Amino acid sequence: MTDPNETAGQQRLKTMACVKWWPTGQGRRRRPYPFWTRTLNSVIMPEDREEHWDAAYRSRGARGVSWFQAEPVMSLQMIQALGIDPTTAVIDVGGGASSLVDHLVADGFLDVSVLDLSDVALDEGRARLGVGGAVTWLHQDILTWRPIRRFGLWHDRAVFHFLTEQVDQETYLAALADALEPGSGLVLATFAPEGPEFCSGLPVARYSTKQLLARLGEGFVAVEERREEHVTPAGVIQPFSWLAARRDGDHPGSLS
Ligand SMILES: C[S@@+](CC[C@H](N)C(=O)[O-])C[C@H]1O[C@@H](n2cnc3c(N)ncnc32)[C@H](O)[C@@H]1O
Repeated sequence: MTDPNETAGQQRLKTMACVKWWPTGQGRRRRPYPFWTRTLNSVIMPEDREEHWDAAYRSRGARGVSWFQAEPVMSLQMIQALGIDPTTAVIDVGGGASSLVDHLVADGFLDVSVLDLSDVALDEGRARLGVGGAVTWLHQDILTWRPIRRFGLWHDRAVFHFLTEQVDQETYLAALADALEPGSGLVLATFAPEGPEFCSGLPVARYSTKQLLARLGEGFVAVEERREEHVTPAGVIQPFSWLAARRDGDHPGSLS
């Protein structure tokens, strides 16, 4: 549990302890993460981003990472608020090892894609659900991936907030715009303004639901806005902002 006497700085250090070692060179010597990991998404090559996330899942296991939750309760509630039905094609961006896909398949969803940079994380899902069937596993970097088809729901819990550089946010939003059909749904969850400043050793951008909606730009209408206090496996409370929105028909992406 969180110690009420702990300062915000102490809690932040705990959060940063998610992943604190950077493997280097052939001998995989380890050093504390240097300050330049601030630029991890923008400047570091996609292979290194991948190594970072693989190391996070390997070192703590899928159930030991700070974002682990036994049940994706908020995701399911937000999807329900949008009135998404099982015929909808869904993509869980940065879905990692989350059990959201298990729930969607169990609820009869026929077309679910899970995209993640970490194959270690995707292996967890593949081991649970197998390959083929209703699930497509996409081992991709959202900053280089371009959708070749459309989805009726885009879900992202705790991925967009790692994009602290405007250029990366715009790359992400361009993929989102291309992937979503008019009328389709979006569920986006990020750290709230009073949430941690770092996670997994990386800085994050924090948002209120209003700020998230503004960041999406024109073309999205809010359907549900919530706040959640996620409790990490180590007992640290992390406030999240949750936005469920619907894309209006006036801003088609380039895949129309
Ligand atoms: C904090 S975790 C959240 C995982 C999952 N959404 C959940 O709720 O359990 C962030 C996830 O995003 C993935 N990720 C980070 N950067 C990414 C990128 N540029 N492209 C695709 N996935 C990325 C990581 O591998 C990790 O699985």
